[in-house]
Amino acid sequence: MVSEEGRSVVINGERFRVYLDRETIERRVRDIADAISRDYEGKTPIFIGVLNGAFIFLADLMRHVRIDCEVDFLKLSSYGAERITSGKVRELKRIDADIENRHVIVVEDIVDTGLSMDWIMDHLAEHRPASLSTAVLLHKPDASRTKVSLDYVGFRIENKFVVGYGLDYAQVGRHLPDLYMLDPSGQ
Ligand code: PRP
Repeated sequence: MVSEEGRSVVINGERFRVYLDRETIERRVRDIADAISRDYEGKTPIFIGVLNGAFIFLADLMRHVRIDCEVDFLKLSSYGAERITSGKVRELKRIDADIENRHVIVVEDIVDTGLSMDWIMDHLAEHRPASLSTAVLLHKPDASRTKVSLDYVGFRIENKFVVGYGLDYAQVGRHLPDLYMLDPSGQ
């Protein structure tokens, strides 16, 4: 259950405080959309959103893009101990689009260890796109276990648990318009 008290929320008994408010996020999303509109002028890129977390960032990003573009989705196995320890990723939903010779932009809410993005880039490269880039709202450099290169990054953040704006805590909290960070003091 989510309960809100001003600039903090309690989710599943843990207190989170606002870390990035909705206005700050919106400004940055507009910046990224502007950069993509410039970089892909004259092209029709296809955004590949990684479900579930990316759905809000992707929706906001696309609404600010000023060039023709398309969208598709893929879904990986949910975040779990197996993936953290072994780096194994399971695909739960494949893309439907034919991306051969297309300009592809992978859209993620967060890159943590980087294992998911690493897998996605390798996997999509096999489809021989004309180009392959990444748009990521949040990056935790201190958690990184791979050398995946990120093209458009919203915010580089501390290695702490965050929720809201598409990101969940045990599936709860995705709907929150601001981004919250776990407050270890809980006060
Ligand atoms: C999150 C996020 C990325 C991945 C990043 O997804 O959306 O896909 O974890 O972590 P990594 O860099 O350590 O691989 P999650 O599995 O929590 O599923 P969700 O998108 O449905 O919330």
